[in-house]
Amino acid sequence: MSETHDVATARDRIAELRQQVAHHNRLYHELDAPELLDGDFDVLARELRALEAEFPELADDGSPTRDVGGIAGATFAPVTHAVPMTSLDNAMDGDELRAWADRVVKGLDGVVPRFVAELKIDGLAMSLRYESGILVRAATRGDGRVGEDVTGNVRTIDDVPERLTGDNVPNVVEVRGEVYMPTAVFEALNVESKAAGESPLVNPRNAAAGSLRQKDPAKTAKRRLSFWAYQVGQVVGGPDFFTHRQTLDFVGEIGFPINPEVRSIDTIEAVAEYCLFRQEHRHDLGYEIDGVVIKVDDLAQQAMLGFTSRAPRWAIAYKFPPEQRTTLLRAIQVSVGRTGRTTPFAILEPVFVGGSTVSMATLHNQDQVAIKDVRPGDTVIVRKAGDVIPEVVGPVLEKRPKGTEPWQFPTTCPCSLGSLLVRPEGEANTRCVEPACPFQRDQKIMYWASRGAMDIEGLGERTVVQFTAAELVRDVADIYLLTAEQVEPLEGFARPSAEKLVAAIQESKDRPLPRVLTALGIKHLGPSASQALAAEFGTLRRVMEATDGERSAVEGVGAVISATVSQWFEQPSNRGLIDRLGAAGVNFGSEQEAAARQAAKAAIEQTLEGKAVVVTGAIPGYNREEAENAVTSRGGKSPGSVSKKTFALVVGEGAGASKLTKAEANGIPIVPADRFSDLLATGQIPE
Ligand code: IVH
Repeated sequence: MSETHDVATARDRIAELRQQVAHHNRLYHELDAPELLDGDFDVLARELRALEAEFPELADDGSPTRDVGGIAGATFAPVTHAVPMTSLDNAMDGDELRAWADRVVKGLDGVVPRFVAELKIDGLAMSLRYESGILVRAATRGDGRVGEDVTGNVRTIDDVPERLTGDNVPNVVEVRGEVYMPTAVFEALNVESKAAGESPLVNPRNAAAGSLRQKDPAKTAKRRLSFWAYQVGQVVGGPDFFTHRQTLDFVGEIGFPINPEVRSIDTIEAVAEYCLFRQEHRHDLGYEIDGVVIKVDDLAQQAMLGFTSRAPRWAIAYKFPPEQRTTLLRAIQVSVGRTGRTTPFAILEPVFVGGSTVSMATLHNQDQVAIKDVRPGDTVIVRKAGDVIPEVVGPVLEKRPKGTEPWQFPTTCPCSLGSLLVRPEGEANTRCVEPACPFQRDQKIMYWASRGAMDIEGLGERTVVQFTAAELVRDVADIYLLTAEQVEPLEGFARPSAEKLVAAIQESKDRPLPRVLTALGIKHLGPSASQALAAEFGTLRRVMEATDGERSAVEGVGAVISATVSQWFEQPSNRGLIDRLGAAGVNFGSEQEAAARQAAKAAIEQTLEGKAVVVTGAIPGYNREEAENAVTSRGGKSPGSVSKKTFALVVGEGAGASKLTKAEANGIPIVPADRFSDLLATGQIPE
């Protein structure tokens, strides 16, 4: 394969391939006289793209790979789906499945439909757009309306044809389906990553998602992803279809793999039976599934049933229950969080459950361990709660070794200070209340750097522990004083990686004020309350100096949060930290802007006092933030979604279909974008 090329041979091969691909493209498109089968053409195009990706220095704007979206397009630009990619409602058991079928029959005025049952592939939904039979765009689902352009990466998937086959190819067709990683590929890649000393891929679904997010399609190509098609989006031209099954057959004819397990089934009882059968045999396939998708086959019936605000009424996902496995509980340990809260967790003999290998599982708190009475040495049942977080369900008592005693919660912190743990009256949590606890300190720094807070790339648990162990860092303010010279000698670093991390840390100083507030890790103060405080006060100083009453009056803050914020700022050590963060140059918000905003606010008539106005789509003269500010500066709220309490939905071009549907369903007034200014001025729904 391409990895064996050196630059000189790659240059020659690339030149040859470019010439061939361009030649066959011309034969196909311009002369309508192809000499190659489509599959053979794909092999050439794929080899060329892989080589160009591997040798970026040989890139050339004249390459035929650039003509149809090409590998340059892998920067994940937003793509608005021509037809939204809705999700599915779930049925968690047979009864919920039957209840759905009853609703369907009712919606069809008593007619019992035929169903199509498909496997629910555990991968990533993808929309592949073909124009004149050529793949022009591959987009992820995103929020259903706008996804990400991952064309360059998807082109490396063998199952995805570059060109459609057959006589009746539509002018435009969006083929939808699931990109997934076959289990065998997943296992093989994990053998490789283990040999290379890299951390393993968690599960096939995550691995597929990560592969599609690669900046370099050559890396995606190595992940050997696959694709099953199961739906179409926009279709212009081509044959007429009357059933979903016909659609699938056609999608198969134009070149896509259709899962062979698709079944047409006449009764819901037989569907339920099929679901149970699949559940029992879910691991007999070469890929992961997490349920069965059932669709009404007749397209006219689908149209009659239509959509709710979030999903089609004509389809349902029967979800398999979480999987359980038994394994040996080796030990119980306690971790200490940033607020000193302790969490007991189980160290397990590694076991594969719910699509990934589990070697640790939470036991939540002291009472939970006591109630479950799990003891080291027990064989325990493990499952994925919500199919994500591993959890110990309980012991298998028949297998308990003789002579074990109930596990005792420790009385001291596992850190080097070994301070006493306390459990306040009426609380479920046992805490370490020692301010100097090194575990809490490390956790605070990790939280500061985490995604939802200051989002510092490269500053994870391992690095934080290295910094504090080397006494380079005592608290978050210290990270801003780090130099590449100090970081470089640490294990796993070299000069470039040290410089990169220091730069990422420095860059985080400019994060917006709500993130800084969140990152402080004040109890109860999460991202949305931080946002509300920042919007109201504008600077950290003003948040700090505000009275309890002023803070708790802010929508979304309230007395509890305000009180913990006060307590936090009253601590001299925290004030010291704020001073040092300020001195390091962390953004605390601009005093000038805050003052100007307050003055402007005082001057603006509060026409929308207490009213929630949701804005969707483009509003001429405003960007999204400005439109929301226009509402909030008039005393209104501007939430992101429509509810029964919404006063008005302002709709501009490219509006979200789900918001519109929901507003219509709830009788919420809809205001066109060009009447937004009237709404702002009067606080009334314009006529
Ligand atoms: S149909 C309007 N069919 O499940 C119909 N989805 O929870 C939309 N999925 O986002 C989807 N296998 O990622 C459909 N055979 C299948 C599927 C399937 C997996 C996924 C898909 C979708 C999610 C919905």
